[in-house]
Amino acid sequence: MKIEIFINGIFYQKDVPPDHRLLDFLREDLGMKGTKKGCDQGECGACSVILNGKVVNSCLIMMVQLPEHSEVETIESTDSMVLSLQDSFVKRGATQCGACTPGMIMATTALLRNKPKTNDREVREELSGVICRCTGYQKIFDAIKDTQEHLERG
Ligand code: FES
Ligand code: FES
Repeated sequence: MKIEIFINGIFYQKDVPPDHRLLDFLREDLGMKGTKKGCDQGECGACSVILNGKVVNSCLIMMVQLPEHSEVETIESTDSMVLSLQDSFVKRGATQCGACTPGMIMATTALLRNKPKTNDREVREELSGVICRCTGYQKIFDAIKDTQEHLERG
């Protein structure tokens, strides 16, 4: 099956096995291992990416379902929001094993793009689909707050 798709702004045209999901495409066909495979069944959010502007669990998206020329953004993106969040997560010690971190950052990126002034309660609600087993979440929320303040200052 031939696929034409944009990943982080780069155009790919590739033959993909018909059973491949977006997660398989990224990790196996393109060798982009930043997007993590956790539960593999839509429960943990570790595989979250931005697909045509919305956060999705890439383990649930079949490549055959994708509209032609879809746009996907992953943790390998060089977008300033993604980079700023990565920086804040490191500075705040908000990443430990790192399994949830790419999904957490991509879900946060989509959220802050839509609503830069999202408050703490909304951030917690919006990120409830991404599970972290290590950090207790507070450092993650602190890192997100730092990024919001950084972006507000310009
Ligand atoms: S790996 Fe996709 S939701 Fe857990
Ligand atoms: S840092 Fe280990 S699951 Fe979140």
